[in-house]
Amino acid sequence: MLAILSDLHSNLEALTVVMEQCAKLGVTDYLCLGDVIGYGPDPVAVATIAKTRFTTSLMGNHEEALVTGRHRFNPHAAQAIDWTRRLLTAAGGDLLPWFKERKPFALRGPLLMVHGSIYDPVHDYVDEPENPIEANNMIDTLSRDFAGFDVCFAGHNHTPFMATTMGVMIPHDGHRTFRIPAGHKAYICVGSVGQPRDRDIRTSFATLDGEQLTFHRLNYDVPKTQAKIRAAGLNAFLAERLGEGI
Ligand SMILES: [Fe+2]
Repeated sequence: MLAILSDLHSNLEALTVVMEQCAKLGVTDYLCLGDVIGYGPDPVAVATIAKTRFTTSLMGNHEEALVTGRHRFNPHAAQAIDWTRRLLTAAGGDLLPWFKERKPFALRGPLLMVHGSIYDPVHDYVDEPENPIEANNMIDTLSRDFAGFDVCFAGHNHTPFMATTMGVMIPHDGHRTFRIPAGHKAYICVGSVGQPRDRDIRTSFATLDGEQLTFHRLNYDVPKTQAKIRAAGLNAFLAERLGEGI
């Protein structure tokens, strides 16, 4: 069984719950779509887990900002990435060099993994289609540009959903498992482990077991992470948003 995780954002409490649940489920292979760090209070601990446990770990826009210093972040994201760089540098070892080696995409058989989208794997957002024009654009993307792979796992938008040529599926507590028959085209956005933005504060990730895709949501100790963010002197909004799922 594969676990597909994205946007951990230095949230150790959320990642710990996810890893415990994955161990119970029998996950053997962890794929990470990027943004291991940024925003959150535990970059060293979270990066250490990513480096030691994940088979694949991609370059997200926060990794890119970490290693290049170039970004278009708002001030609180920029402050957090500079703070993160100082902590990772002080931690020594090979954590910072490990981030420099991250690749922007990975292909595994019919599965493509990106942080952003198939058009720009680091920065672009896969938007949930909200009107007929956007739905047609999504169908075009899936039927025309999904070439050489069938399924693309994406992160970055911090919102779990699946887009297929037949429509968009938003997982919810009554329906979390979907079948993806071989050859079917699908964009699968797995949501965010460490900073969900779909007004559901629970940590989000996905597992793939053969043709069976499951979206997972789990509670974690949000107040503990919020307290750490405030204690670190990071922007208060970064703590508040975890309590609202925005
Ligand atoms: Fe992110």
